[in-house]
Amino acid sequence: MKSEAGYNLLITGLRNAHAMESQAREILERQIERTNDYPNVKAKLKEHLKETNEQSRRLEECLDKCGESPSVVKDAALATMGNFAALSHSIASDEIIKNTLANNMFENFEIGTYKTLIVMANNAGIEIKQLLTRSLREEEQMAAWVSDNIEKITLEFLAIQDRKAV
Ligand SMILES: [Fe+2]
Repeated sequence: MKSEAGYNLLITGLRNAHAMESQAREILERQIERTNDYPNVKAKLKEHLKETNEQSRRLEECLDKCGESPSVVKDAALATMGNFAALSHSIASDEIIKNTLANNMFENFEIGTYKTLIVMANNAGIEIKQLLTRSLREEEQMAAWVSDNIEKITLEFLAIQDRKAV
């Protein structure tokens, strides 16, 4: 191990990422309940919820490899809960648009988080790059899907608003 400070920063980073994925799970569950008008979005969110659960499990595996107890993780998850509460826009009339833009932002935040963790893990000499890279690839795919679908979702939203106005 190169430096104790670097190692401690990695552990904190892994715990924060676990809290981030807990928050992601909540946001996805909330959005899945409320996207009946957008079946393609709903299906994709459900798919990413499964990935998110797996990402949480991978982070627990990473912490386990560092010899850290998984029970401590829950405290961090609770402490940071609410950080992203603003990402739920359940009372806005253009909820689907706001949520799509928030998801675009959130997935990119997750991408940055995993990139940082990979650097920290390599620096600390901990062999968890493969686990982190798998999650990074999933976040990149989800971010690309959201970005690629902004136009389609906006057009669907406009069509639904038109139908409601008749
Ligand atoms: Fe994600």
